[in-house]
Parts: sequence; C-alpha cells; structure tokens
Amino acid sequence: MKKHNFSAGPCILPQEVLLKASEAVQDFNGSGLSLIEMSHRSKEFVEVIENARALALEILDLEDKGYKALFLTGGASMEFIRVAYNLLETKAGYLNTGTWSNNAIKEAKLFGEVVEVASSKEEGFNHIPKMFGVPNDLDYLHITSNNTIYGTQMKTFPKVNIPLVCDMSSDIFSRQLDFSQFDLIYAGAQKNMGPSGTQLVIIKEDILGKVTRKIPSILDYQIQIAKESMFNTPAVFPVYTTMLNLEWLKGLGGISVIEELNNKKAQLLYSEIDLNPVFKGYAKEEDRSTMNATFTLTDEKLKDTFDAMWKEAGVSGINGHRSIGGYRASMYNAMSLESVGVLVDVMSEMERKA
Ligand SMILES: Cc1ncc(COP(=O)(O)O)c(C=O)c1O
Repeated sequence: MKKHNFSAGPCILPQEVLLKASEAVQDFNGSGLSLIEMSHRSKEFVEVIENARALALEILDLEDKGYKALFLTGGASMEFIRVAYNLLETKAGYLNTGTWSNNAIKEAKLFGEVVEVASSKEEGFNHIPKMFGVPNDLDYLHITSNNTIYGTQMKTFPKVNIPLVCDMSSDIFSRQLDFSQFDLIYAGAQKNMGPSGTQLVIIKEDILGKVTRKIPSILDYQIQIAKESMFNTPAVFPVYTTMLNLEWLKGLGGISVIEELNNKKAQLLYSEIDLNPVFKGYAKEEDRSTMNATFTLTDEKLKDTFDAMWKEAGVSGINGHRSIGGYRASMYNAMSLESVGVLVDVMSEMERKA
C-alpha cells in the first residue's frame, strides 16, 4: 500500500514523475541507454538540463530579467558557502530564523563579518522576527523563506537596497511571490523538486564579480554560469527528475494552481490542530508554514497510542525533527488533500479516544 508520505525531505513526489523517472533509468526515451549511463554531454542530456533550467525561470516568472538558473551539487549547505564566497567582501546581514539560517551564518563568518539583523532564537524559533533594521553598508542580506524544522514561513520580505539572498529550500514553487525581489535564490531539490543530489540556484548576474578574493572554479558562480551548469558532471538523475516535476507543475497550471491546493491542505490541518484539544501548534499562527506544520501532543502519555494510530492509517514521516520533537507534517506540492484528510481523521479519532 502506498503510504501518505509527510516526510520533510527527501519527500513525496508526484506518482507520474516517479514512473517516468524510473522508466528513464531503464531506457531513456527509447535510446537504448539508461539515463544514468549516458554522457552528460550527450545531446539528450544537454536538452534535459537546458529544459530544467528554462522551466525553473519560466515558472518563477524570471525569464528575460537578468537571471540565470543553475543546477549545482553539494546541497543547499554548499550554497551557504558559495554565497559568502561570491558575495561577502566585508560584511553581510543574516536573519536568523532557525537551524538552517544558523548554519548559513556559521559558514559566512569564515568569509567576513556577519550582522545578525534579528533572531527568534530566544523563543525557540517559533516565529519570524518582523521589526528590524538593515544597515545599508552590507554586501547582502540573507533570509530563509521557510524554516523546515520549526514550521515557520516568511509571508513578507524585507525591502532592501542591497542584494537579497533567499534560501528557499523548503517552499520554492509552492506559492506565488514576486520572485524578482530576490537577487539570489537557492533550494535543495529534495523538498519540492526531486531527489536529493542537486540544488537549484537562481542568480541575478549583475550582483556577481564584486568581491576581490580569488574563488576556486567550482565555487565561482560566474564560472558555473559560463559553463551552463556543466563545469563538472551534473547530478543527471536528480536534474532529470526535477525537470519532470517542473513539467508536471507547469502542466497543472503552475504556481497559482498549486498554491490554492497548498492553502487548502494547510487550512485543513491547522484547523484540526487548533480545534482539537489533544494537539497544540508549535509556530505562531501568523507565521505558520503551508509546507511544514509542527505540533505537539498536549499530553505526552498519548504518544504511543497516537503513533500506533497514524502508522496503522498508512501515514508516514510525521515525527518532528530531533531538535524540537513532537510532530511535523510536511505537505509539499505533490501531497494530496486526501492524504492530509487521512491524518486529520486520525487526529480527531485520537481526540475521541483520549
Ligand atoms: C531551509 C533549508 N535550508 C538548507 C537545508 C540543507 O539542505 P541540504 O541537506 O541540501 O544541504 C535544508 C535541509 O533540510 C533546509 O530545510
């Protein structure tokens, strides 16, 4: 039986994407070769990566606006380093909204001064700081649009006149935004795009080339752009699967359509969390993520019963991150409203039993 997969990442992907990806592993488009045994420089694969890069820009409405899309390797964590390497000359600003921004800060400190413009650490990262100043003399401001572990999501973004860099790993392609307000967006594929092993980086080219340090080739965004994401062997299978997923999203009608579904799923689950006395939400209401809903039991003694019930219902992957415990239900693009309904039914059944 196929599980209702609420895993935070690697995560659920559309069934048709999984099917096409698995077919390509056997035989890529009738070529007599598996996708993963053909040259990344073959005409067939170059078309794949070009298509994936173009689709990413198209879906985000960033075509012809000075942006380049790259599929690189090393995960979003590699971009913590590349961003600082390429952009941090003296001082950068970081908004600290959780573990991942904290990790990005740690890496950036190896390259220059880091100003933490605001932090919600004292309150266990249960909200997004709203009122904070951003000095004008920063090389860039780094934010994390969705905090996968704590289940908070930025609903508005600071208006700044320095480059705005966004780690969008866990909510890219999930909601409509003016993506041109960001100068650099990066996202690990394994949340809403495809398998782990690649990350999408979208860069406004004119922010590059301003630091004086020498940059190793593989870490240099300008070289990666010049080599069209082929400086070294790209992650062919993750890039192909991401391409399929972006085609799937475009076929559905793009971000506006998926956003509507994502909002419905989030409303269904959060209203259960709010109405059911057995559960309590972790994130402050106004900052709740539509992608990752975090909650706890109000009585820990119910844990064994609840765990047995959701497992029995075919629900998978709702254990909270080890750093905060409790539960986390991730509802990425491919998750159906019906699957969220299954979890909600288990939660109301838990209330009846408690
Ligand atoms: C928001 C965010 N940023 C960065 C990362 C790190 O990604 P990776 O494991 O691809 O380095 C994660 C992983 O969960 C994440 O959720």
